Amino acid sequence: MNLVTKSAIRSSILAMRRALTYDEIHKASQEACARLVSTTLWQQAQHIAFYIAHDGEIDPSLLMNLAHTQNKKCYLPALASNDLKHLVMVRHEPEEALIKNRYGIPEPIQDEKKIIEPHKLELVLLPLVAFDNTGTRLGMGVGYYDRTFAFLNHQNRPKNTTLIGLAYEFQEQKQLDRESWDVGLDWIVTNKDIIQAHVAIQKK
Ligand SMILES: Nc1ncnc2c1ncn2[C@@H]1O[C@H](COP(=O)(O)OP(=O)(O)OP(=O)(O)O)[C@@H](O)[C@H]1O
Ligand SMILES: [Mg+2]
Repeated sequence: MNLVTKSAIRSSILAMRRALTYDEIHKASQEACARLVSTTLWQQAQHIAFYIAHDGEIDPSLLMNLAHTQNKKCYLPALASNDLKHLVMVRHEPEEALIKNRYGIPEPIQDEKKIIEPHKLELVLLPLVAFDNTGTRLGMGVGYYDRTFAFLNHQNRPKNTTLIGLAYEFQEQKQLDRESWDVGLDWIVTNKDIIQAHVAIQKK
């Protein structure tokens, strides 16, 4: 897929996402979160990476609040200070302060003691711009998540770390080309579906 195609998909889906009302975002987020909570993946995970929703993304904050009450350890991404365009995953506890990064996205303070190595996370929730049912993910185009989880492309599955994209149904594309550096999603949870990469297991 060439750059023009990717950027055309990005701009049309971002325009749809940005046109959503607060109520539409909230309802879709609730539906997606409820779907994920009913899975054994959620029930068994003790170390989970979330994100702070931005720009109309599905909002996983309901899940993070629930995770805190279930004594699961919650992590949020922060931009690596070395400028190598990868993320560090930092433990986040209720009421802890967040500071806006250069994209205006709130992130935790990078205290060494709170950083977890990405392979120790059991579940990682990722925002996305577009996805297909093979798990190919189109993000904002910098490659942050691809760099951070590149180790998953060098390992046979099954593996300890499960990547779950959260999306609106309209973000699904029939087929996205996967680049050599793209790290595939294991599951995509939308407001209507829970999709295991390659296999749709539940449809409403
Ligand atoms: N593991 C990696 N090592 C080196 N460069 C990488 C790696 N992963 C991605 N990149 C680079 O990052 C750039 C952006 O990648 P891509 O278009 O896949 O971003 P994206 O997945 O949409 O972004 P994001 O994950 O930030 O939402 C590409 O030009 C690619 O060369
Ligand atoms: Mg990518």
